[in-house]
Amino acid sequence: MRRILPTPAAEVDLAEAYAYPGDRWLRLNMVSAADGAAWLKGLSEGLSGKGDRRVFGVLRGLADVVLTGAATVRAEGYGPARPRASWAGLREGRPPAPPIAVVTRRIDLDLAGPLFCEADPAARTIVLTTERAPKERRDEAARHAEVIVAGDEHVDPALALRELAARGLGRMLCEGGPRINAQLAAAGLVDELCLTISPLLTGGDAARILDGVPSRTRLTLSHLLEEDDFLFCKYTREPA
Ligand SMILES: NC(=O)c1ccc[n+]([C@@H]2O[C@H](COP(=O)([O-])OP(=O)(O)OC[C@H]3O[C@@H](n4cnc5c(N)ncnc54)[C@H](OP(=O)(O)O)[C@@H]3O)[C@@H](O)[C@H]2O)c1
Repeated sequence: MRRILPTPAAEVDLAEAYAYPGDRWLRLNMVSAADGAAWLKGLSEGLSGKGDRRVFGVLRGLADVVLTGAATVRAEGYGPARPRASWAGLREGRPPAPPIAVVTRRIDLDLAGPLFCEADPAARTIVLTTERAPKERRDEAARHAEVIVAGDEHVDPALALRELAARGLGRMLCEGGPRINAQLAAAGLVDELCLTISPLLTGGDAARILDGVPSRTRLTLSHLLEEDDFLFCKYTREPA
């Protein structure tokens, strides 16, 4: 993978290029088609490629926690993050893989499935939910996961992130989907966007990488990488 900006280089050390700048940081990682679509046939897989999967893996290796919306967990069949040999140097003093934190009100999740039953005990899956979540689902979730109530009717994004940070999970990686992303951006919580632009036109009616509540976050381009016609943009939020 080559670097185009800020200084051209033939090869990039991805762990260095994506190192977190501090202990409290929310990074959004998404892939989109060149026409802005955030999924193809309902999944991100068709937009991704070899380089994108490498970046995706490095970002997970660097993160304290992976945040995601329940619809993404259901659509993409999320399991726990699996430790990789290449992460060893990145995770000193931390569990071998980051826990997955799922935002959900309904808790319509497979609580007996791998995401909940195969997570490392040191990185149990986290359910970020609401007071109004169905009580029996909350009780059932608590048997398999750490349940954090962060809102009454809806999960309050700022409160959810504070709860994660209070557990030592300050270097956060949000993997979408677009509806969660929109709420995080509207609350002014997105510090960084890692966007892979796939060399594809797809048409159709897929959402963009933010879908829902409108917002305006001014970004600066921190780096631009390229491999096989895929662009890897790292944008940082401009200080207010
Ligand atoms: N291109 C990419 O990089 C990428 C990345 C991720 C996902 N995707 C695609 O995006 C699609 C899914 O994304 P999406 O935008 O539809 O959904 P999403 O953001 O993944 O999840 C939405 C769900 O999260 C829960 N939720 C959202 N806000 C909440 C709040 N404030 N309080 C409580 N719960 C809340 C609700 O879950 P409950 O219904 O359980 O209450 C809601 O149905 C899939 O097609 C996936 O393949 C693409």
